[in-house]
Amino acid sequence: MTILVTGGAGFIGGNFVLDWIAGCDEPVVNLDKLTYAGNLETLASLQGHPRHTFVQGDIGDRALVERLLAQHQPRAVINFAAESHVDRSIHGPGDFIETNIVGTYKLLEAVRGYWSGLPLGEDRAQGRAPAQDSFRFLHVSTDEVYGSLSPADPAFAETNRYEPNSPYSASKAASDHLVRAWHHTYGLPVLTTNCSNNYGPYHFPEKLIPLMIVNALTGKPLPVYGDGMQIRDWLYVKDHCSAIRRVLQAGRLGETYNVGGWNEKPNIEIVKTVCALLDELRPKADGSSYAAQISYVTDRPGHDRRYAIDARKIERELGWKPAETFESGIRKTVQWYLDNPEWVANVQSGAYREWVSKQYEGSAA
Ligand code: NAD
Ligand code: DAU
Repeated sequence: MTILVTGGAGFIGGNFVLDWIAGCDEPVVNLDKLTYAGNLETLASLQGHPRHTFVQGDIGDRALVERLLAQHQPRAVINFAAESHVDRSIHGPGDFIETNIVGTYKLLEAVRGYWSGLPLGEDRAQGRAPAQDSFRFLHVSTDEVYGSLSPADPAFAETNRYEPNSPYSASKAASDHLVRAWHHTYGLPVLTTNCSNNYGPYHFPEKLIPLMIVNALTGKPLPVYGDGMQIRDWLYVKDHCSAIRRVLQAGRLGETYNVGGWNEKPNIEIVKTVCALLDELRPKADGSSYAAQISYVTDRPGHDRRYAIDARKIERELGWKPAETFESGIRKTVQWYLDNPEWVANVQSGAYREWVSKQYEGSAA
């Protein structure tokens, strides 16, 4: 059996593919468009690996997706592919509509065609193809679809109303609704996860935590939006990956699962924690703290004030729990960026990205 992962050259998809290949014998077909956020450098350790097939392409390219499904006969499709950065969605929402909404729709249609042609369990030739009833489409989504919480509100439960506020979260909310509709209308066996803010290795340095690490080390300002008291709920990326594996294995069809680590923190506390770790692990020559680089800047338009995940459903039904505390995860993360300056330099270099895509051209299916 095989799984098809989309967006597997990005931050979470890349971590997922690396963990999957390391943890089991099942092959992965990895479909990724390689936008600025997709980096083959993240998958460098898998180059030439017999169980990893990388294909550069768009989830919205129905003919390509149909061909990959027919060729590889996956037992599951896990959809990570998306435009993921809120600030970019404010400056230019078009790509978010195109990939997150239209792309998800086209992917769902290709998958529905493939799934409806699969044999029923009792007709299945032994080991040849997955059966219709065991196939899964797992859609990876975000807590941002629920909108913003006030300080006294309880954390987001799966029953909360969708109230997306940014072009990014609205596009993800729309994709969640499409996935839900393809289950209710056509019976497609879907699962959806809605996760809080991830952090960890291979995080593109435009997001808060890696941006602060990279800017601190290069002597640049650390831009904190508004008063820095917005709250996010942080989860180490490997814990998100383990939650997705668990939902894929045992999640109830058509259900959504909120994923989070009960780690609510104001942004300014995150930035100060990163600075303190860098002070310890890479002290500045003049003895000053990296915190001196903090600079309060104009707030993000429509900035959601607080996110918090109530993770009791996935804990209760599927027995999932995160392995990292915030303290252990953030230390590992800062250390990873200190140990991998080439990765940062490479993902920030457009010329490098073009070159690396050429290296992989021959391996595309
Ligand atoms: P990312 O931006 O790091 O990676 C996205 C990947 O998708 C990239 O490799 C990109 O090249 C690829 N991609 C984009 N458009 C594509 C298309 N049309 N066809 C094929 N590939 C395409 O994002 P991420 O942070 O890894 O997020 C992955 C998923 O998890 C997204 O769906 C996101 O909404 C969701 N999510 C992210 C977080 C988080 O904190 N980062 C939290 C919860 C949910
Ligand atoms: O909640 C899950 C979401 O988390 C995911 O769905 C998104 O894909 C992911 O990007 C993330 O969205 P955020 O907007 O919360 O992440 P970001 O890292 O952009 O910002 C985190 C917080 O830090 C947010 O309150 C904005 C603030 N911020 C961000 C940047 C980049 C700053 O104060 N300064 C910055 O320079």
